[in-house]
Parts: sequence; structure tokens; C-alpha cells
Amino acid sequence: MGTAVGSWRGATLAWVLVLLAGAEALENGLARTPTMGWLHWERFLCSTNCAREPHSCISEQLFMQMADLMVSDGWKDVGYEYVCIDDCWMSLTRDDQDRLQPDPERFPSGIRKLADYVHSKGLKLGIYADVGNKTCAGFPGSYGYYDLDAQTFANWGVDLLKFDGCNYGTQNQLAEGYRNMSLALNKTGRSIVYSCEWPLYMRPMQKPNYTEIKHYCNHWRNFADIYDAWNSVKNTLEWTALHQDSIVDVAGPGGWNDPDMLVIGNFGLSWDQQLTQMALWAIMAAPLLMSNDLRHISPQAKWLLQNKDVIAINQDPLGKQGYRISKDNNFELWERPLSGGAYAVAVLNRQEIGGPQIFSFSTSFLGNGLACNPACSIQQILPTSEDWGLHNWVSVLNVEVNPTGTVLLKVVVIGEFPDENPVMNINKKPSPDIL
Ligand code: GLA
Repeated sequence: MGTAVGSWRGATLAWVLVLLAGAEALENGLARTPTMGWLHWERFLCSTNCAREPHSCISEQLFMQMADLMVSDGWKDVGYEYVCIDDCWMSLTRDDQDRLQPDPERFPSGIRKLADYVHSKGLKLGIYADVGNKTCAGFPGSYGYYDLDAQTFANWGVDLLKFDGCNYGTQNQLAEGYRNMSLALNKTGRSIVYSCEWPLYMRPMQKPNYTEIKHYCNHWRNFADIYDAWNSVKNTLEWTALHQDSIVDVAGPGGWNDPDMLVIGNFGLSWDQQLTQMALWAIMAAPLLMSNDLRHISPQAKWLLQNKDVIAINQDPLGKQGYRISKDNNFELWERPLSGGAYAVAVLNRQEIGGPQIFSFSTSFLGNGLACNPACSIQQILPTSEDWGLHNWVSVLNVEVNPTGTVLLKVVVIGEFPDENPVMNINKKPSPDIL
């Protein structure tokens, strides 16, 4: 009996030590908070015919225009920094020294000039390559050229590499490739954020080792490509919640789970669904890489993507990823621990029939009972900013949420009741104004 308890204690202590040690991040000093920027893929795909689609083909023009707008329309001011090229920028062949080269017609000035332009705006440039023989769209892959390609990107002044995993060969080559490119980037001495898709390609064969992945990558895709559709956003959230026990704890400064691009401002999501994507990407400590057309974006979508309170939650310096704490037929409750003992809380209504529904829950559900103990102030962040006032540890919140929409709250714990003994807003029923 004594021995059993002793060995149980020993095992627990070992686990506590493992947990305290945490996963070691890629120590390149980058991505201390989730990366913010713009990435062309979801909105512009592999459009290479500039004669036919001069305004949406993958060309230096497109990235220069996005860089201009990121500055002039306030995106940079709220934190969006990386202008990122995805697949389809390359020429179909390497140059006579085996270096990757951009398509000469679509990038006539070359990537170095484009990087200079982006840097002159105070922004950073991201580029795309692939661990295997070819990129997903069939352009030259980096297999066998990791050092050369890393050096080429560094020489050009690139600041982020999205490294895809199509056409990788064996599992071993996939893992070796992701590791080697990380080391190759490091060897260049240039600060280059390393965005991986390693676990996404690995998972069908083998369970990813996130401790190792975090050691090599600044962020990593786990799940299928995002589409401009509610189903896609919903599936991404569901996948994340179902795997949260294995992916949430590993996230932190220097290394993040990447649920893929923000598709807000496009065609497929209703307003409520856009609110859901923004709120939950903040809860998930996700990189905020918009894929939309900044030349044509509604004031509403811009307001949401530039919402400073949501961005502050996404960028919270504590760097802990949030998780789902409950799910019933209609509602999901998510929370994310924030610095200073605060919590972000999201209430998502998954019911796709009917009108707004009320979800009632006790503040004692939050933060393992500590988020509002003995009291807290609650601020509604989305759909609109509203002060919900003071609450205590047994307050019941009745939250009205539109179908497929989300209400995002920030709960700030108050250590002691203020002297003036305020009336607590127990049973508050907020009625968010629609924008
Ligand atoms: C894969 C990636 C996408 C995008 C395309 C480009 O599908 O997951 O994000 O980069 O390749 O071909």
C-alpha cells in the first residue's frame, strides 16, 4: 500500500516536472505572440494568368498594393505586419545556379526588390516553399536544396517562410526536411519566421510529436485548408476542440498552433460567422493571417479585423491558448487565460435554425472557479463593446447569441470588493446592439 502511494507520488512528481519544463520553443526570438499579417492563398489561389486577371493574378503588383493598403488603411497600426506570398510565385525551373527564381513576367523586379519595397513601408515579407520535390501546385520543391533555398530567401530579405509538405516522399524525409529547413534558416543568421505544415502531413501515418515540432517551427498547421465557408470554420473549431488535450499546452511564445487563414471580408461567411471566426481565432491564440482583398473590403469586416480589444486578446503576452470547456447540442463555451488573471470567454451558438438563443451559465464555470472569485468586471468585446459591470462568483450570465454567432467577453478578476460596495449585476441579461 505504502509502496503504491509512494510510486504514485513519484509518477506524479515526474509529470509535474515534465509539465513545468514545458515544450522548448524554436529559439529564434520570433513569434513571441501569434504572427499577424496577410497571406494570398485562400482569396487569390494560383491565379497566374495576368492577361486575363490583371488584378488578381499572383504578381508583385498584388503584394505591393496590399503593402500600400496595410499602411494607408490602418492595418499596420493595429499589428498586421507580414505580407505573405503563398504558392505559385515561382518559375517552373530553377536558375543556372539551381536557385529558385520568381516567374519573370509576374515578378519582373524580383523578390529582393519586392522585399525592399515592403520593408520601406515598415512591413515584412513572407514567402512560400515546399519540403518535397514539388509544391502543392507543382512548382519546384526544396528537397535536396534546403540550404541553398534558405540562403536565397535570406539574401532576398525574406522575413517568413511558409513551408508546405506536398510531395514529401517518406515520413522520414518529411520530418528530416522540416528539421533541416529550420536549421538552414537558422544558419543564414537572418530572422525568418518558420511556418510549418508538418503535423498536418504527418498525422495520417503517425501521431505528431508536438514537443519536437515546437522545437523547430514558429507555427504549424494541424488541419485541412480553410475555405470561405461556415462548414470549414466549424470543422476547424471542432477538430481543435477534439484534439485540445494534445495541442493546447504546447502553444506559447515562439510556437503556435495554426488553424489557417482568416477569411473574414470575403464571400462565404455571414456576419455572425465572421464574428465567430475572429473571436475563436483570438481564443485559440492563432496566427492572424488574413486572406482577403484589402482593396475591396466592407467597413464592417474592416472594423472586425481591426478591433483592438480582440487583437489584444489574440496577442496576450501570457501566450496561453484557450480551449473549449463545454459543449451541448447548441452552445459551446470556450475560455482563454490571459495575463493578470483575466479570461477571455466565448459563447458560440451552433444552432443553424431559429433566431437568437439564450445560454445561461454561472461565473463559477470560468477559470476553474477562479475567474470571478470573489468578484470580476465583465466587458463584452463582440459583437459590440459593452460594459457588463461587476459580478461575483455565483452570478448567472444569460448570454443571447445569434445562430452561428459568438459573444466574446473579457472577465477581469477583482481581488477584493471595492470600498463603496457596489450593487452586483447578478442575472444580467445583455442585449447586444447589432452594428
Ligand atoms: C496546401 C496548403 C495551402 C496552400 C496550398 C498551395 O494545400 O495547405 O495553405 O499553401 O497548398 O498550393
